[in-house]
Amino acid sequence: MNKAPFLVKPLDASHDRRTFCSESPPLDHYLRERVTQDIRRRVAACFVAVTDEQRIAAYYTLASASLLLADLPISTGKKLPRYPTVPAVRMGRLAVDQAFKGQGLGSAMLADALERTARAEIAAFALMVDAKDERAATFYQHHGFIALPDLPLILFLPLATARSV
Ligand SMILES: CC(C)(COP(=O)(O)OP(=O)(O)OC[C@H]1O[C@@H](n2cnc3c(N)ncnc32)[C@H](O)[C@@H]1OP(=O)(O)O)[C@@H](O)C(=O)NCCC(=O)NCCS
Repeated sequence: MNKAPFLVKPLDASHDRRTFCSESPPLDHYLRERVTQDIRRRVAACFVAVTDEQRIAAYYTLASASLLLADLPISTGKKLPRYPTVPAVRMGRLAVDQAFKGQGLGSAMLADALERTARAEIAAFALMVDAKDERAATFYQHHGFIALPDLPLILFLPLATARSV
């Protein structure tokens, strides 16, 4: 097992994006071709886990978002103010390079995103994720995320809950 400690930091020009190879070609393509444009336009922030050699082992993106109160489970909505939407942060993409799979890095990236979101000065009720398929949704559910009742590929984790985990 690879025990190299990874540093998680914002993506910058010193990181080599060309060799990144996850199980998902669209997620690889996004990192290679599109992410820097999204960062420049401030529609996404990207964080990477890098090895000592500055190789990208995993990445995720965050952006602000909102959840419709009506889409949340009734038990969650009942505890929130009656505004049409609640603020959230969306983790739009998460991928681990295949060379580093199954070593807890996906979980560590999720924990990093939760911590980063929870310590931000701007309030968000939850970290939400767009799962690319059912398998990915299962990964998030394994980590305590709750699927929206009518949109099962959108999941959320209230940050107050995440903080007490
Ligand atoms: C999904 C992905 C991020 C997981 O990364 P990883 O580093 O291999 O996962 P980890 O080693 O951190 O796994 C942590 C835990 O999640 C579990 N897990 C991993 N994939 C899972 C899945 N699809 N369903 C349920 N649980 C899963 C592991 O068994 C492990 O459980 P444990 O902590 O109880 O032992 C990675 O496989 C990946 O990049 N997949 C392709 C892209 C993708 O699907 N992205 C996510 C949604 S857009």
